[in-house]
Amino acid sequence: MSGAGDPPAVVLVGLPGVGKSTVGAAVAEHLGWAFLDLDREIERREGRTIARIFAEAGEARFRELEREATRELVGRRRIVVAPGGGWAAQPGLVALLRPHATIIYLAASPAAVARRLGAGQGDRPLLATGDTVDRLAALLAERAPHYRAADHVIDTELIDAQGVVDMVRLLATAPGGR
Ligand code: S3P
Repeated sequence: MSGAGDPPAVVLVGLPGVGKSTVGAAVAEHLGWAFLDLDREIERREGRTIARIFAEAGEARFRELEREATRELVGRRRIVVAPGGGWAAQPGLVALLRPHATIIYLAASPAAVARRLGAGQGDRPLLATGDTVDRLAALLAERAPHYRAADHVIDTELIDAQGVVDMVRLLATAPGGR
């Protein structure tokens, strides 16, 4: 059972490919909390990939599914959530979880994220065309104010992956959290 005194939830935000899912899964495992990759959850429910949802139903439908899946997380504690990179910029979604969640922005430059993605950008509809660094830079320009409104920002270019996991873990369990 979760109650008011339980540690809050953690939500990781940031550009596609910055490492939200990898970091989130590792943090959840360390803490013994649940982990939810919101995109994988949407794919499981829909029985099709994010790329197919975008192609067959459009981005607007994907955003509705994202909102529905987020609503179901309201009140959940002891959970690490890794939503897709556009989540934080969708009106009202951060506000739904904020009362009980610590929002952490995993920051990295478009060039660093493109390097991490390597050949992986093909699965991501918003990065499927054009130059990856340019696309990421355009997404960041739109979204930076939303990402920066997080409770904490971790510059993932300054510390290694294990350091990022440790820092998120500390922030997740810091006294005085939500
Ligand atoms: C998106 C990022 C993707 C996925 C969808 C849209 C975005 O998630 O939700 O393709 O708007 O940035 P990742 O951040 O896990 O790639």
